[in-house]
Amino acid sequence: MEGRPTVDFYETLFRRRDVRAEFTGEPVDPAVLGRVLAAAHSAPSVGLSQPWDFVVVSDPAIRQRFFEHVQAERAVFASQLEGPQAERFARIKIDGIRESSLGLVVTYDPARGAPAVLGRHAIADTGLYSTCLAIENLWLACTAEGWGLGWVSFYREAFLRDLLGIPAEVRPVAWLCVGPVRALQAVPDLERHGWRHRLPLEAVLHEETWGHHGGLLASGPGGRLGGAIGDGADEARAGGGPLERAEGGGSR
Ligand SMILES: Cc1cc2nc3c(=O)[nH]c(=O)nc-3n(C[C@H](O)[C@H](O)[C@H](O)COP(=O)(O)O)c2cc1C
Repeated sequence: MEGRPTVDFYETLFRRRDVRAEFTGEPVDPAVLGRVLAAAHSAPSVGLSQPWDFVVVSDPAIRQRFFEHVQAERAVFASQLEGPQAERFARIKIDGIRESSLGLVVTYDPARGAPAVLGRHAIADTGLYSTCLAIENLWLACTAEGWGLGWVSFYREAFLRDLLGIPAEVRPVAWLCVGPVRALQAVPDLERHGWRHRLPLEAVLHEETWGHHGGLLASGPGGRLGGAIGDGADEARAGGGPLERAEGGGSR
């Protein structure tokens, strides 16, 4: 097949956002939920172990209990901050647990396909990597469907295990807030609040050996990749699609 990029795919990829404040909370279309879960379940996995499970949580009482736990963990993190950083963090919303249509908890089961997991003998973390790939598939599929997804990690694994009756040997990897959204922000919340900024690709690209930032992306004859891969963000921001972009600030 000729190496032409699929524009719709890149458009979806660069539109993807971590969503906290833009959920509508409306009931989900079961067909869409089925498609995004199928996308997650089609992820690559070490030794085809498929070590993930998905727990769909709609019960408001369970979500409220999780929300209260997350608030407590937020306070733990906030207590480690000082000065302007503390003030900045106070303005950042870190979850949409109660506002989203659903919670989706993704877990990792190291026993699935074990003991002979092909490819995991030297790097145990490959099982977790596989679970994260399922989450990324889900994230992109939600974006393509006009939904949003927000990853919440302000929790203790033991608490979430107890809350949902997850077996002791299975690790909760993420609580994902999922559902239709009013809009997607053009700029990540953490950038909008001045917490951190996305690094330029050049800063993380090494040539041949670590620390050698060659001219791969430079413009002119020395730059061999620039333009060929671009980050596409400008095009994505300019482009249309199923959702309007949110303008500027708004979410805490
Ligand atoms: C492993 C992981 C855990 C995260 N946990 C949280 C979280 O607890 N709360 C939150 O608001 N965002 C969380 N995020 C979202 C990141 O803050 C977000 O991806 C990053 O700021 C870039 O923004 P973008 O996803 O919109 O591009 C998490 C993301 C990842 C990959």
